[in-house]
Amino acid sequence: MDLYNVYPLFDINIVKGEGCRVWDDKGTEYLDLYGGHAVISIGHAHPHYVECISSQVQKLGFYSNSVINTLQTAVAEKLGRLSGYEDYSAFFVNSGAEANENALKLASFTNGRTRVISFKKAFHGRTSLAVEVTDNAKIIAPINSNNHATYLPLNDIEAVRAELAKGDVAAVIIEGIQGIGGIVVPEPEFLQQLQVACEETGTVLVLDEIQSGYGRSGKFFAHQWAGIRPDIITVAKGIANGFPMGAVLISPKFTAVFGQLGTTFGGNHLACAAAQAVLDVIEDENLLENVNKVGEYLMTELKKIPAIKEVRGKGLMIGIEFEEPIKEIRTKLLFEEHVFTGVSGTNVIRLLPPLSLSMEQARDFIARLHKVIG
Ligand SMILES: Cc1ncc(COP(=O)(O)O)c(C=O)c1O
Repeated sequence: MDLYNVYPLFDINIVKGEGCRVWDDKGTEYLDLYGGHAVISIGHAHPHYVECISSQVQKLGFYSNSVINTLQTAVAEKLGRLSGYEDYSAFFVNSGAEANENALKLASFTNGRTRVISFKKAFHGRTSLAVEVTDNAKIIAPINSNNHATYLPLNDIEAVRAELAKGDVAAVIIEGIQGIGGIVVPEPEFLQQLQVACEETGTVLVLDEIQSGYGRSGKFFAHQWAGIRPDIITVAKGIANGFPMGAVLISPKFTAVFGQLGTTFGGNHLACAAAQAVLDVIEDENLLENVNKVGEYLMTELKKIPAIKEVRGKGLMIGIEFEEPIKEIRTKLLFEEHVFTGVSGTNVIRLLPPLSLSMEQARDFIARLHKVIG
């Protein structure tokens, strides 16, 4: 059987990782400034992570959500404490798209409405409603195109207010920092006004923190830079450092109804062991402090490079926009300098390294980038 050919692949077979470095099958070492697409939060093969998963799988890998799972309770308790959302409830799922599906479903169950406001260049996943509220016509199949979504310009509060005034909007969904859209940070005043506008109209505010959350921006959630508290927060990617997992964090305003949401695999024992290890390391190794320190250094150094048009982002979620397409720079970084980076559109390089990236590794990256762009 062949693989269904939907991914344009680099001809590199990664077989090993440690911290912020990975190795291919030929033994070549790479600096990982991509984190497997913002997924590796605490670093590859972190010893505590390896230990937690290994010991859990020897005891019990999985049992269904029909019995008590104290590992879920422990993850929810620590996640609430570290993020400042102790009064919220967690519903564990398997991916980012699934988290957003459940968030939007919950909004609609709660206020009975069916429209969703999202924003230009937004990305929220590839399943049913998640893809419908994603502003990319190429990935929305006709079966997913059901007139639920209206995409508005980011930071345009008047446009949002005009739509919410119609009284039929179930939810507004917005990324803490737009990721695939090119690392665009929403204006704090816009987020504050958005929260008020949603409250006034009974609209559920969903903050998609799937890429920008879990410490990546230097606060636990990127929206916390604006001091808002959304009704629902969705997380995935960094939550379990590569183990497939997501979560919907739900305000105490909502009342849980038996059977309304559900999943077979979500929050299974092995996933929870991975998620617990991530939270332990974020706390024990002060990773948020590291993100702020190393992120600031990278931003400062990148802003000094004349060839770069704009540097955007927060913490270790950085977009580097060039005047010209970046394909050659990115290819040279990978094949000559052995650095993995991400991309957005044609002109933006995205940096999404593990949150444990050291100052030395950041300096090393800047030196390698200088070698490529001269
Ligand atoms: C902001 C955002 N939301 C949702 C998703 C979808 O997550 P998943 O691929 O786990 O379904 C992504 C993935 O890149 C994302 O960046």
